[in-house]
Amino acid sequence: MAVDRQKKFSIGNWKMNTDLADALVLSQGVRDGVEGINGVEIILCPPFVWLYPIAETLKHTPKNLSLGAQNMHWQEKGPFTGEVSPMMLQKVVKYVILGHSERRFHFNESDELINDKVQSAFEHGLIPVLCIGERSKTNSGSDEMINQLVRDLNEVSEQNMSNLIVAYEPVWAIGTGDAATAEYAGDVAKKIRRKITELYNEKVAENLPILYGGSVVKSNIAEYMDEPDIDGALVGGASLKINDFVEISKEIGRYR
Ligand code: 13P
Repeated sequence: MAVDRQKKFSIGNWKMNTDLADALVLSQGVRDGVEGINGVEIILCPPFVWLYPIAETLKHTPKNLSLGAQNMHWQEKGPFTGEVSPMMLQKVVKYVILGHSERRFHFNESDELINDKVQSAFEHGLIPVLCIGERSKTNSGSDEMINQLVRDLNEVSEQNMSNLIVAYEPVWAIGTGDAATAEYAGDVAKKIRRKITELYNEKVAENLPILYGGSVVKSNIAEYMDEPDIDGALVGGASLKINDFVEISKEIGRYR
């Protein structure tokens, strides 16, 4: 395990969308479309219930395609009705999205809880895709986002930092079509790297993949990838369309 910036990342967060038939068509369509693309790790994050059937159908899939979960509980098992544990996920996925703003704000997930989940993901050999982002466009100082970063990484060891991906997703840009400008997202990514240097050291900061998410589409992905501190994208709506997500992934692959 371990991730670095040699490879770029194209992650599709399907959120609470698709039925089983859609999920199979979408995952197989993406698999066929991305065959032969090098230098980019393509990660599909379907709803929990479709993970296993998709994993089964993608068994002999090219190495550049992996699965991720959209959330998890931090404990292995117990009386937590409706939850899914890292132990259950570790056989099926390599990655897990944690701290998505939809979980923070619709389900009241706190930074303390997200930190527990991040630590648990490491303990179970899963790579967290930690999402952070400010709610208000006018709060472009992004203190809220930096505070999330610091709290969510509480007591994360330097060693585990090489098993982490950070996704900067300004809440106001998610699903709105009001994407952050590439320059703005690039500056925030630089700011995140500076904070990681302060918390750890330059080597850790330089090795950390930082993605942008929020209204990414095939016509704007290149602008983000032109930013030296952005290593890929976390895509919502556009990841539900085979052709759009394949095009986005191909474009990301051009920047390795
Ligand atoms: P959209 O790409 O639909 O804006 O969603 C972004 C997102 O929340 C991905 O996690």
